[in-house]
Amino acid sequence: MSRLSMAFFTAGALCGLIGMAWGVYMGATHDHTTFPAHAHLNLLGWVSLFLMGGFYALLGDRAPVKLGWVNFSLSTVGAIAMAPALALLLKGNAGMEPIVGITSLIAFAGMIAFVIAVLSAWRRAA
Ligand code: HEM
Repeated sequence: MSRLSMAFFTAGALCGLIGMAWGVYMGATHDHTTFPAHAHLNLLGWVSLFLMGGFYALLGDRAPVKLGWVNFSLSTVGAIAMAPALALLLKGNAGMEPIVGITSLIAFAGMIAFVIAVLSAWRRAA
C-alpha cells in the first residue's frame, strides 16, 4: 500500500480515537455542549479521511500522487483544526468564528481536491 493511503488511514484512525474519547468524555460528564465539534471530527476526520485513503489504495499505481498529497494536507488540517475551534466557539468564545470559517474552507478545499482526483481517475479507468 502507498504511503499516501497509509497517511490518510493514520490521520483518520487518530481522529477516530480522539473523536471517540471526546464522545466518552461528553457522556461521562453529561456535558454535550460540544457535540457538533465531536461529530465533525469523527465525520471529517475518521470517516472522510478513511474513505479517501481507501480510494487512493484502490487506484494503486494509477493514483494521482501529488494531487493526493494536496488532498491529504487540506483535508487533515481542515478536520483537525476545525474541531477545537468549533468547540471553543460552542463554549461561548465568539472570537473563534473566523477561525471556524477559515478551517471549514480548508476542509472544503480538501474535498474539491478529492473530487478532482476522482474525476481525473476516469482517464485511467479500465
Ligand atoms: C465511543 C464512541 C462515541 C461516543 C461515546 C459518542 C458520544 C456522543 C454523544 C454523548 C453525543 C451527544 C448527543 C446529543 O447530545 O444529542 C454524540 C453526538 C454525535 N456523534 Fe458521537 N460518539 C461516539 C462516536 C461517534 C462516531 C464514530 C461518529 C461518526 C462517525 C459520531 C457522530 C456523532 C454525531 C453526528 C452526533 C450528533 C448527533 C445529533 O445531531 O444529535 N459519534 N456522540
